[in-house]
Amino acid sequence: MHKQTQAIRIQAEQSPEKEHSTPLYLTSSFTFDTAEDMRAAFADETDDNIYSRYSNPTVDEFVKKMCVLEGAEAGFATASGMAAVFNSIFALLKAGDHLICCSSVFGSTYALATKFLPRYNIECTLVKANKPEEWEAAVKPNTKMIFLETPTNPQLEILDLEWAGKFCKKHNLIFNIDNCFASPIIQNPIEFGADIVSHSATKWIDGQGRVLGGVVLGRKDLVHEIYMFCRNTGPSLSAFNAWVLSKSLETLDVRMERHCNNALSIATKLESNEKISWVKYPFLPSHPEYHIAIKQMKKGGGLLCFELKGGIESGRKFLDALALLSMTPNLGDTRSIASHPASTTHSKLTEAERLSVGITPGLIRISAGLENVNDIINDIEQALSKC
Ligand SMILES: Cc1ncc(COP(=O)(O)O)c(C=O)c1O
Repeated sequence: MHKQTQAIRIQAEQSPEKEHSTPLYLTSSFTFDTAEDMRAAFADETDDNIYSRYSNPTVDEFVKKMCVLEGAEAGFATASGMAAVFNSIFALLKAGDHLICCSSVFGSTYALATKFLPRYNIECTLVKANKPEEWEAAVKPNTKMIFLETPTNPQLEILDLEWAGKFCKKHNLIFNIDNCFASPIIQNPIEFGADIVSHSATKWIDGQGRVLGGVVLGRKDLVHEIYMFCRNTGPSLSAFNAWVLSKSLETLDVRMERHCNNALSIATKLESNEKISWVKYPFLPSHPEYHIAIKQMKKGGGLLCFELKGGIESGRKFLDALALLSMTPNLGDTRSIASHPASTTHSKLTEAERLSVGITPGLIRISAGLENVNDIINDIEQALSKC
């Protein structure tokens, strides 16, 4: 059966009520008929549900769909994308290990790698996503894992997944990737040798800006270690959020098609706008890594970015002039969203620090929504005319 069909049809067991939409198992714990059944469940002799911090049928339904979409052997769902990222690293590394991480990762992942892991004596070297020679130079005898995003946030740099797979094999490293920006519809890193794939389900997977969620997918042995760590530390996804996210997966494929088509049309139109010095979108031939993007992505994704010639001041004016696009720190929504990292999320950094993580003064990131594309373009163009 096609992945798209399974993302719609995989379902927790129907209740005696014979509901059509999937049931929601909103319960903290599960009961047993006999003391022996309960003993066997705790002894891992059966797969019976015990407690929703460990497993829950609604959460399992979401995980099963995600495994199909990513081609993964196993998975574990978490309360947020950061819980997925954190646990995928922390459950598999120990004091004395070394991690290589791309420098242009999501802000909280950057903080985790540079501020928190060192507290536990896990060393991290940051490298530029699109510079393979930096990855090679960073390998040490105690290197255990690489962590990366592609496309990166917000500069949309692309790292060659085929190269990364071979690199990890050569050095016997765990290949861990946050695939949130692409979504499992656009890119499947396991095909290129990834061992662990995480998602912030808060973004394209929910797709409607309602709930937080995350998921870690990949090799059965590694996911089991992550599961055992999470079972005892408690970052599990709530059944309610899993129900929302599982329903969302039924429409992810069609939504991503529209998000990607809208993003490509916006990026193409903006390339000739006189207020902009450059536009970046993975499927624009002008993107520096276009040849890699078309090799590993089915479409260009729903995000694009551009640089305003007028710098920080123009960025502020642009946001203030928008009438349709939302100003909000999220992405992957039905509603188009604009953000200006230099004056908002990264305003506390010095300009040199911002530049080192790819945040230029006039950088605007657009998350293309599902609105009619002409309305999105008209709003962006009228706002540009006021910068
Ligand atoms: C690439 C990426 N990874 C992880 C996260 C964290 O996800 P969450 O907010 O669900 O914890 C985000 C959030 O914006 C993100 O953009």
